[in-house]
Parts: sequence; structure tokens; C-alpha cells
Amino acid sequence: MRRRQIYEVNNLKLDNNSLLLNESLFYNANGYIGARSAFEEGYPDGYVTVRGQYINGFYDFTEAKQAECLYGLVQEKQTMLNIADTQSVKIYFDDECFTMFEGKVIESKRWVDMDKGVTGRHILWRSPDGKKVEITIIRMASLQQLSLFTIDITIKSINFKGEIKIDSLHDGNTTNFFDPNDPRTADEEYQYLTPICEMQENTSYVVSTTSKSNLTVCSGVHNVLSSADDYRMISGDCSTLCEMNATINEGETLRLIKYCVFADSVRSKNPRLQVEEEMNKALASSMDELYDQQEAYLDNYWKNCCVVIEGDDDLNTALQYNLFQLIQSVSKDEYGNISPKGLSGEGYEGQYFWDTEMYIQPFFTITNPDISKKLISYRYEILEMAKENAKILGHKKGALYPWRTIMGRECSGYFPAGTAQYHINGDIAYAIIAYYLMTNDIEFVASVGAEIIYETARLWMDVGNFHEGKFHINDVTGPDEYTCIVNNNYYTNVLVQYHLNWAAKLYYEMKNLPKFRVMRKKIKLSEDEVKAFEKAAAAMYLPYDEKLKINPQDDSFLQKKHWDIASIPKYNFPLLMHYHPLHLYRYQICKQPDTVLAHFILEDAQSEETIRNSFEYYEKITTHDSSLSRCIFSIVAAKLGMEEKAFKYFGDSTKLDLLDLHGNTKDGIHTANMGGNYMAIVYGFGGFRIKEDGLHFAPILPKKWTGYQFHICYHNSRIVISVSKEGCQFNLKQGDAREIMIYGSKYLLKDTLSISNENNKRRTL
Ligand code: BGC
Repeated sequence: MRRRQIYEVNNLKLDNNSLLLNESLFYNANGYIGARSAFEEGYPDGYVTVRGQYINGFYDFTEAKQAECLYGLVQEKQTMLNIADTQSVKIYFDDECFTMFEGKVIESKRWVDMDKGVTGRHILWRSPDGKKVEITIIRMASLQQLSLFTIDITIKSINFKGEIKIDSLHDGNTTNFFDPNDPRTADEEYQYLTPICEMQENTSYVVSTTSKSNLTVCSGVHNVLSSADDYRMISGDCSTLCEMNATINEGETLRLIKYCVFADSVRSKNPRLQVEEEMNKALASSMDELYDQQEAYLDNYWKNCCVVIEGDDDLNTALQYNLFQLIQSVSKDEYGNISPKGLSGEGYEGQYFWDTEMYIQPFFTITNPDISKKLISYRYEILEMAKENAKILGHKKGALYPWRTIMGRECSGYFPAGTAQYHINGDIAYAIIAYYLMTNDIEFVASVGAEIIYETARLWMDVGNFHEGKFHINDVTGPDEYTCIVNNNYYTNVLVQYHLNWAAKLYYEMKNLPKFRVMRKKIKLSEDEVKAFEKAAAAMYLPYDEKLKINPQDDSFLQKKHWDIASIPKYNFPLLMHYHPLHLYRYQICKQPDTVLAHFILEDAQSEETIRNSFEYYEKITTHDSSLSRCIFSIVAAKLGMEEKAFKYFGDSTKLDLLDLHGNTKDGIHTANMGGNYMAIVYGFGGFRIKEDGLHFAPILPKKWTGYQFHICYHNSRIVISVSKEGCQFNLKQGDAREIMIYGSKYLLKDTLSISNENNKRRTL
């Protein structure tokens, strides 16, 4: 059973690192807007803050510097913008300003309430002059009204009697964070937005225009104080200050609600007008109603995606935290997607990668396919630009999705570990096929997904070539970014084979659907072309080493030097921050799973023996410098019956952000890792797979747990899978009876199906 989930930290640390980390961990978002949780009242001078608020898919163009301007290299990239700051609130008790850095913090805590969808900060404070007050701040990015972000501050006087002044700021003068020493963030400061302020009926508006992309964003702020003696708005060029005064007696409380509303020209013709409408809508409901709506949204969300671990509360809370961040971060429309940091920071500049399709989308496809559909629609929106990208790269046909992008054009400055990752085409196709297998939504696939599948399939025919009867793909980079521009990367080739085979399968399946016919005509897809796909797939070259009985990562991988990971000093990790790329490329060393990932997503392409050999080989040479790594090793370890290992990888991976294990959560949370952790339970321990012949399960139970449970949506059914020490149970909560495979045997799931340990091959640790 799911219990109320709260992640809480007491006795807040005030050193700069902890503050930055908590800005990410306690951030608020709803997939449209994201606000890092900097203190409303600010920090003292000298402290670094990434006081950011962002809109998914809202960007400006910025220069991508190339030392040598070779043909086709990216000269301009897109960056997600830090829009107007609506968070600042300063509270004065007579002439003393509240700050946790002066006086005495008697009690303090922060929390994320994953059922209510809010974050909180509570402080019991004594000012330097001895005024004792309690301040509670609840922040919410509404999941029902995506434009709305609220800050709800309750001030309770314990021993203070006098005047409270509150300064609430709406500031359009913002810039993005930069760090010239970290390749994962922007390297210089630039004023992207030009703001203009305006006031109307106690609401302040900031309308800002981008420098190059010709986009507009508008924010509106409206302050409501429970009792104000005086209320003034003072507008400057780029900011508006709302000053409020009230008197308070001992034991009394005062409440400020700051309504912040956003709209942008990517989604709206008139963002300024839209903000006015959205503000009226927000103000029409009481705060209690808004909180109830948020809870109702999440109640429904958890019903579909609930995963519970029994017997390990810490890990369970960490897992719930992961799943909560996924719904906070993912775009609910096709104008945005989900970036590796969600909307919690500026790492990777808010661009979207393959992380979406291979790590995050499976979660939505299984639990909330409507969101998965939006993610596919986003790729459809940028398909024309993917075709342009293919042309830039010299391809005569097809589409090549950019490695990283917001609006569709390639952003990766370092092409060997970026643009060369052509596998993104296969990843996107794989995600569409998974969506189809899970939902059976053939209409959507015919009208949206198919065009992507064929345009990307066409590209493979142009990239690859036949050599001695085999189809080869040369000069691409696989997922492992420590080995770049190689021939016949196993991951890429096996995925392309799958992609091309499915392109053919879908063709024969959908040939007569009207929507498919329209698409076919539009892109001039011929049956001969489909036959060519089949031929290439059948002849696909998949590297295999007879001696080691593994799939080499690529043609030259096994010829390279060995480098004992244990001999590398701890402070030299991640390696990309300490070694020249060429140095890394000359060793058999992996940043993240490549062949092992291929063995997970396409397990039927090799025997279990080969998968085991590969796992053991690559495990020794993988640094896990990417947060996308351990979850996959956990899944494959679970498949191979290495439960202890699977459990260890899972634990480390699931707590990665909460324990800041990669030391960079201050730049934002790791959403792909979070999606991967979901997969580690469902695909790893649960042994779940979705294949052409239906659903497969093979649950195992880690020794430390007493049980776990997960839910899946399949076609029109909802199935709850509960695993305990006694065995596993499948409950059909909704939909038609269906056949499922459990430990390789077929069962008919009508209502409840119980498989006890005695009768099955199921293993416990
Ligand atoms: C990983 C990539 C990933 C990117 C964004 C890199 O460190 O190597 O696979 O797409 O981070 O998460």
C-alpha cells in the first residue's frame, strides 16, 4: 500500500553548497514552468545562487563558438532562459529584516510533499533584537493550471508586537547562470531578455523579448496579504516592487499569497493577454481549492504509476522522489519535452537529448501513455528540421534528429560526442514502437509516429553501405561518449536492424489505413524502399568476438589499450573533466553502458551466454561517469540472476540526487537517471518486457525487501503486480482478460493470478 510520501530535511545547512543543492532538490515545476528554490529573502552578499525560473521550450539563440569553422559545424545553439524573477519576498519586523543568516534559527526544515505537490520551508527564528517569529512558506507549481506558480507565506508572531513590512519583488532584470570551467553549463553571461514593466489593478506585468529568437514571455504577479494597512506598487524600468505594511500582535498570524502567472509566444499569440486571463482564473479559486486540485491531480497520477518498495523506507522515499520529479519535469504539450535537468537548473541549457526516449519515456508509456504521445508529437513537430539536419550532414534523404536541441536545430558543439550519436534516430523509433506495443494506438502511429519512423529509417540507408554482403554503419558514436566516431557500433547496428524491421512490419500492417496512405503519399514511400529496409536489416553486421564470446562495442574497441579503473585516483572522476577526449578514446574504458544497454533493450538479439559474457566484460571497464549508467547495469544484472549486484546498483542510482553522489545536483536534478531507476524496478526486479507477443514478467525479490508493487497500463487494461516473499500476484484492475507470460509460461489473467514460489523458478536473494 502506498503511504503519504514526504521527503524532509531538518536543521538546514547554510553553507553555499547546501543552499545550491537545495535550490535544485526542492524546486517546483509542472512541466511548463520551473522555479528553483532559492530563499525568497535571498542570501547575504558573496553567496552564489542560481535563482532561476524557466519555461519548458522557451529559448533564445546564442553563439556556439567553434575554434575552426568547418562546414556544417554548429555556429548557433539554443538555450533555455532564466525569465523574470517572481520569487523575491523580504519581510521586515520593525526595522529588522528576516534572514536565516542573522539572529538565531531555532528550528528549520524543508520538505517536498509528493501527494500534495508542494514544497515547504519552516523556520522558527529569533531576530538579533530578540523578536521571535515562525515563518512557513509553501510553494506550488500547479499541475491543473500550468501557467500558475504560488508562494504562500504564513508569518506567526510568537513574542512580537509591531509593524511588519513586506517587499515583494517582480524583477525582469535576470540573466542565465554560467560557469566557464564546466562544459556542462553555459560558459559566459549574456543578457538575453529585454523586459518592460507595467502595472494594472494591483497586478504587475513583465513582458520580455528575446534578443534573437524573436520570442516573448510575460509574467504577472499579484500579491494578496491577509490584512494590509498600506499597499503600494512602485514600478521601475525592469521591475515592480509591491510594498505592504501591517501590524501584528503576539500570537497573531499574517498570510501573503503571491500569485505568479506565465505565458509565452511559443504557445500563445498574445502572452500579455493570456497572463491577464490566467491570473483572473487563478484568483477565482481560493488557495484551498487550488491545493485540493493539485492533490486530486496527483492522486490520479500515483494511481497509475505507483511503485512501492516494502521493507526499505529510505529507498522507497527516494524512489517516490524520483517519480515525483518526472511528473514535475515533463512537458504536457508538444512544444516542450523533458531535459536532463528537468526545469530545475541550467545544466545542459534546457536542451533535450536521447535521455527522453531511452530513459524517461518508458515510464510514461507504461503508466501514462497520453504524456508519451506528447513526447512523440514533439519529435513530429521538429521532423522538418531533422530533415534539414540530415542535409547539412550530407545525406541525400531522410531525417537525422539533432543530438541536443530545443526548437529542432542541432546544439551540440562537440560533434564527436554529439551529432555523431546517430543512434538517436533509432532511439526515437524504438520509443514509438514501444508506445504502439503498449497502447495498440495504431491511429496515432499511422498519423504521427510512422512518418518519423520512415524518415529516420531512410537515413540509415544513406549512412550505411553493403560490404561483402553485410550492411555496415561507419563513423558514428554509440551511447558511450568515451569512444567516439567508430565503425559498426554494436548498439547502433542492432537498434537499426530493429528499426528497419519494424519499419517494414508496420508498413504491411498499416498499408490500408487511410491515415497511413496519406502519409505514404506525402513522403513518397514506396514498397521497394521498404524491401530495401528489410534487406539491410537481414544483412546487418553485428560485431561478435569468437574468443571472448562477446559483442565488441565496435570494430576497433577490443584492439585498444586497457586501463585499470582502480588505478585512477578518485579525484580524477568524472574522467571527462580531467583527460583530453583523445586520451580517453584510446582506451577500453566506458562512461556508460553501450553494448550492455543494447543487451537490455534488445535482449533477443543474443543468447543469454553472450549477454552474460558482455556484461562481465564491460562492467569492469565502465566508470559510471554518466548518471545514466548504474540503472542499466542493475537491470541487466537482475536479468542474469546477479541479484546482489542489481540491488547495489539500484540503491546507488536511486539516491544519486538526494545524496548528491555526482556532486553536480546543484546544476539540476538528473531526470534520465530517475526514469532509469523506475525501469530498474519494473524491468529489472519485475522482469517486465513488452514484446510483439505481449507482456512478460519474471519478478525477483531483493533480500532486504519484504515486497514491492507496480502498476502498468496495457492496451485498455490496468494491471497491478505485487511481489512478496511468498510469490507474486497479478491483479487486473481494469480492462479485458489477457494472456501474459510469467517466467516464460503463458497464463490467462482474468481477475487475480497468484504464483507461489514453490511452483516456480522465481528466485529470492
Ligand atoms: C551522457 C549522455 C546524456 C547526457 C545528458 C551525458 O553525460 O553521456 O548519454 O545524454 O549526459 O544527460
